[in-house]
Amino acid sequence: MKRAFKVLAGVLGAVVLLVGVVALYIRLTGLPRYAKPTLQLAVEATPERVARGARLAQMLCVTCHLDATTRVLSGRRMPDVPPEFGVIYSANITKHPTQGIASWTDGEIGYLLRTGIRRDGRYTPPYMVKLQHASDEDVLSIIAFLRSGDPLVAPNAAPTHVPEVSFLTKVLSRVAFKPFPYPTAPIGAPDAKDPVALGRYLADGLLDCYSCHSADFKTNDYFEPSKSPGYYGGGNMLLDASGQQVFSMNITPDVETGIGSWTEAQFIRALKGSFRPNGTPILYPMEGYVDMTDEEAGAIFAYLRTVPPIRKTRPVRQAVVVPASEGQGKQVYYKYACNSCHGDSGLGLHDLRRAWQKYPTDTALIEYIKDPSAKVPGIKMPTWNGVIAEDEYAPLVTHVNTLQVKTEP
Ligand code: HEC
Ligand code: HEC
Ligand code: HEC
Repeated sequence: MKRAFKVLAGVLGAVVLLVGVVALYIRLTGLPRYAKPTLQLAVEATPERVARGARLAQMLCVTCHLDATTRVLSGRRMPDVPPEFGVIYSANITKHPTQGIASWTDGEIGYLLRTGIRRDGRYTPPYMVKLQHASDEDVLSIIAFLRSGDPLVAPNAAPTHVPEVSFLTKVLSRVAFKPFPYPTAPIGAPDAKDPVALGRYLADGLLDCYSCHSADFKTNDYFEPSKSPGYYGGGNMLLDASGQQVFSMNITPDVETGIGSWTEAQFIRALKGSFRPNGTPILYPMEGYVDMTDEEAGAIFAYLRTVPPIRKTRPVRQAVVVPASEGQGKQVYYKYACNSCHGDSGLGLHDLRRAWQKYPTDTALIEYIKDPSAKVPGIKMPTWNGVIAEDEYAPLVTHVNTLQVKTEP
């Protein structure tokens, strides 16, 4: 007996030591690196590609890479990545020669976008988008846009903060998250005349709707999206700009718990204009797809109609309760979830702290909030006219004024 215990203790000791050594190794070496080929890619920047790439970038890249203060894609801290993954920053992807990606070759960018492997071989965890299913033409269009004269990619010297990844991210990046293989055959565009095919491509292949709208990021099937558990049944937990939990919605055709009773027009308004048929705003991290055409949104609607209905209601979102003593304006600010994009301080994903420079009077500010797209075409701030009650604007603007910063940046 004693002998058996000794052997067991010895084995256990060895296991503990081994685990310790592996843990130390992972902690010290960080994210895995992969050998990568030199991809030869010379993207011809046709005007069509640049225009399409700009539209795709609005739908795919801007949310994470736009810095609200520089107003270009110079990268930012990501308050919406769950803290257990670490303190994550998106990178500067402007055309700056040293801080941005001007020195990356088209092949290096294309390889990263497809596989998730940077030019130095380091893996980028799932908080950076991968375009493993996108058509070749769409990937080339995005690269053409990154090289273009678009103001969003104008060189900016803001340094990229290297993400401070947690031990958990490092472990998961070795056991669960894996880079995608670079496609071995050309990937063509879907048949634009077949709405269901186009819709499936946009929802599953390009814009990753399924990844947020299925049960859990951890159980999604990134190779065959339709095999993800709870496919489009919602309930996946995300965070908004003020770190609040937001659960994704069921967008299967179930009539009671999904969007089975919605019309196509209602769906298009929800997707592009960020309001549900019942007039409530759809909150970040579901940012309005203002750059999508009605045809594309309609195609996604057609595809979602073909998905198996799931009967499932998402967990209720915890409302932020603001005591009356903190003022009616602050209550209105949280009632309409201005914090979901602007954070608690006015600087979240988007910055409203310098609105005074453009809208110096209360009247001008109210006019702007009612219909921002009248002042800034293509803006991703929803149009509040008819949603916020008329008598709520004055207190709301009082609160917005308390968030203004009058000093220079
Ligand atoms: C969900 C947020 C998110 C989205 C969406 C996103 N990115 Fe990123 N991106 C990141 C983060 C975070 C990093 C840093 C990753 C790292 O260093 O591990 C990054 C890194 C990069 C890098 C590497 C730059 C460098 O210096 O390391 C490039 C290039 C890039 N992204 C381009 C894009 C493009 C193009 C798109 C749109 C097709 C896009 N990203 C969409 C979050 C995102
Ligand atoms: C980054 C994650 C994310 C992505 C990507 C995403 N969504 Fe969402 N979506 C959400 C969340 C979270 C909500 C709930 C927001 C809220 O509570 O107001 C939502 C809400 C919706 C709603 C409102 C449903 C309802 O019943 O109120 C629709 C419709 C929708 N999304 C469709 C889509 C489509 C189509 C795409 C792809 C083009 C997409 N979403 C991409 C996270 C996402
Ligand atoms: C879905 C995200 C979203 C929500 C929700 C949202 N906004 Fe905005 N807001 C934006 C964007 C995007 C801008 C443009 C920022 C820029 O130009 O850099 C903006 C700009 C503003 C500005 C002008 C800032 C400037 O300097 O031009 C004000 C004021 C503002 N928002 C107030 C509000 C108020 C009040 C609410 C709540 C009723 C609200 N926003 C809700 C996205 C949002």
